[in-house]
Amino acid sequence: MSQTNIAAQLLPYLDRITHGDCIAVLAELPSACVDLVVTDPPYLVGYRERNGRPVGNDDNDAWLLPAFRAVARVMKPHSLCASFYGWPHADRFLSVWKECGLRPVSHLVWLKSYNCRAGYTHTRHETGYLLAKGRPPLPEDPPPDVLPWSYTGNRTHPTQKPVAALLPLIRAYSRPGDIVLDPFAGSGSTGFAAHSCGRRFILIEKEAWHCENVSRRIEHRQ
Ligand SMILES: C[S@@+](CC[C@H](N)C(=O)[O-])C[C@H]1O[C@@H](n2cnc3c(N)ncnc32)[C@H](O)[C@@H]1O
Repeated sequence: MSQTNIAAQLLPYLDRITHGDCIAVLAELPSACVDLVVTDPPYLVGYRERNGRPVGNDDNDAWLLPAFRAVARVMKPHSLCASFYGWPHADRFLSVWKECGLRPVSHLVWLKSYNCRAGYTHTRHETGYLLAKGRPPLPEDPPPDVLPWSYTGNRTHPTQKPVAALLPLIRAYSRPGDIVLDPFAGSGSTGFAAHSCGRRFILIEKEAWHCENVSRRIEHRQ
């Protein structure tokens, strides 16, 4: 497929959020069309919002393999995917990523300055993997693998990630004008981070009310 045809096919998805299951939506996109993936899938821990409503797909892993297969297909050859994951199920995430041809090339930790849960320890960090499709070139200025975090208050999503926590990755692993994909977009943090440093974005989210919130926020910024 020519670059012009790819661009035309992507246009309806660019710089907006698409409502739907990412497995189905990604199937509509051409292969090898995104430059970078920054995403935050359900952690498989049965998380519930403050009002008791479950976070979509956090209670099962039926989606995990087909979703990351779809993600790997749309990634350009020799590109990267940065993905948060739920550490209690690190084995499931890693085995799926490897099955999809996504190779761990770094482990990421975001340090919190506050305790968010007390169990055997006080939880004060988030984790992610940097995954490579093929052999992406090394960045000119690699970010540290321990990154800063700021409290979002989870005002627009129960597991909202701070935009600033994603920026070092987007800046290091993509260039202005590149396309950054988040197939589990929630409140759209990846899209707002991508936009703030001059990248295009594709967001997909299966819950309609999150999509409506993100669309409203995108409109207000235009
Ligand atoms: C951990 S949250 C992402 C939060 C986001 N990073 C933020 O900052 O707001 C995961 C999101 O993925 C969505 N989701 C789960 N399964 C999905 C699927 N198959 N396709 C699209 N979205 C999905 C959930 O509804 C949830 O909003």
